[in-house]
Amino acid sequence: MAHLPRHIAIIMDGNGRWAKRRALPRTAGHKVGAEVFRTIATYCKDLGIEYLTVYAFSTENWKRPKDEVDTIMGLLKRYLLEAIDTMARDNIRLRFLGDLSALPEELQQLTARTNAITETLDGFQANICLNYGGRDEILRAARAFAADCAAGKRRPEELDEELFASELSSAGLPDPDLIIRPGGEKRVSNFLLWQGAYAEFLFTDTLWPDFRKEDLDAALVEYQRRHRRYGGI
Ligand code: FPP
Repeated sequence: MAHLPRHIAIIMDGNGRWAKRRALPRTAGHKVGAEVFRTIATYCKDLGIEYLTVYAFSTENWKRPKDEVDTIMGLLKRYLLEAIDTMARDNIRLRFLGDLSALPEELQQLTARTNAITETLDGFQANICLNYGGRDEILRAARAFAADCAAGKRRPEELDEELFASELSSAGLPDPDLIIRPGGEKRVSNFLLWQGAYAEFLFTDTLWPDFRKEDLDAALVEYQRRHRRYGGI
């Protein structure tokens, strides 16, 4: 496929509504959502996409009922345990964006282990945003830079876009070319506020647990159509 985005980002929205429509607990939607993530990540890799970034848990999601938070953390734990065994075989790199210091200790250790494996691999990379908020990461970057200035290590006039981006949890990643939001809402919801400055946005009513490879194909066709328009008359 010509003109593929290098980096796709997805807000995995609609798990709760998917479950509600089936009279299931919301957590059932997250379980299916985690499987869909696995399928779509593998598909991105097979297509030759370099990076897929997904929003798994926001800085606001702690306000959800404890059993829902626990279920999402449990799914992440299971995913990471499995990834530790399979990521080298499948050549899938994993990275985590967000303030990981607030995550359960066990998850922090697992992310450290997958990070170490990631450093030994090259090729496709999935980035999972955990306890992530766009404003939060911008504030943390600003604070870190201000602290460096106060300590005499930096001067305010040194700050430019490149230096600022290097303080974000996405340091070193190319910006997303395409941001997809399934689930019907047409909001950015604090996702990749800095990085998404020039991204194409695509909204679909499909709920995340119903999202299939064909939906990604359709998103890529739309992305290419937009690109062709920019390329000429
Ligand atoms: C948004 O749907 C989804 C979440 C807040 C959680 C997403 C988490 C997963 C898919 C599981 C863990 C992921 C990995 C990578 C293994 P919502 O609950 O806001 O849905 P609603 O808008 O219908 O209520």
